[in-house]
Amino acid sequence: MTAMSLHELTTERLRLVPCDHAHLPGLSALNSDPEVMRYITGRGETPEETRAVIERVRARWVKWGYSWWTMIARASDEIVGIGCIQNLRKSGTEPDPECPFEIGWRVRRDRWRRGFAIEAARAMAEFAFTELGAPTLYAVCDPQNAASIAVMRKLGMHCRGIEEWYARRVLTYEITAATWRASAVPARPGEAHNDG
Ligand SMILES: CC(C)(COP(=O)(O)OP(=O)(O)OC[C@H]1O[C@@H](n2cnc3c(N)ncnc32)[C@H](O)[C@@H]1OP(=O)(O)O)[C@@H](O)C(=O)NCCC(=O)NCCS
Repeated sequence: MTAMSLHELTTERLRLVPCDHAHLPGLSALNSDPEVMRYITGRGETPEETRAVIERVRARWVKWGYSWWTMIARASDEIVGIGCIQNLRKSGTEPDPECPFEIGWRVRRDRWRRGFAIEAARAMAEFAFTELGAPTLYAVCDPQNAASIAVMRKLGMHCRGIEEWYARRVLTYEITAATWRASAVPARPGEAHNDG
């Protein structure tokens, strides 16, 4: 087992694998979709931009031991999205270890509303609380991003209101480790889903 594979997470339908250059075609297809990026940057990424993101993310895995995973459907080996545990930042381009952990998600448009984001989110949150010992977990989004807000709520997060992160005013949600342990159902085999 390599050091990288230690960070892989498995759910009923997904493998979460640290983002890798081998994932470039699938991640580029995801990130080049302006509808997927609507509330994130407002425009699709070029393949070269996605390649540079993967490079930065790989460096973060080496430095911190957590960052962005590629979501791969176990049934088909297709890339269906990405998700992260990382530190928030007020500004700049790199996560700030002084800031709280955040959880994030992005799913291919033709795979929306199939439960992939929440399935991955539960596994990533469990990783943050158990493996990283996170005291709390934040999630932030554009206040108009109803889909992301729905995932946050379904994860059991509560709304902190509008806060400034990433040099933007964003809607901010939080779940503490105590609340997670008391109420969350960790991702595990056997959850009811039909498609792969
Ligand atoms: C946000 C996103 C990742 C959700 O992915 P998904 O796989 O479709 O979400 P899920 O299927 O796991 O849905 C989880 C819950 O959210 C609800 N939901 C999903 N999309 C929704 C929408 N557009 N409006 C309202 N509720 C929505 C689902 O119904 C489900 O709740 P339920 O089980 O109680 O019905 C996806 O819409 C996406 O990739 N958006 C673009 C990228 C993005 O904005 N990422 C977040 C940046 S902060």
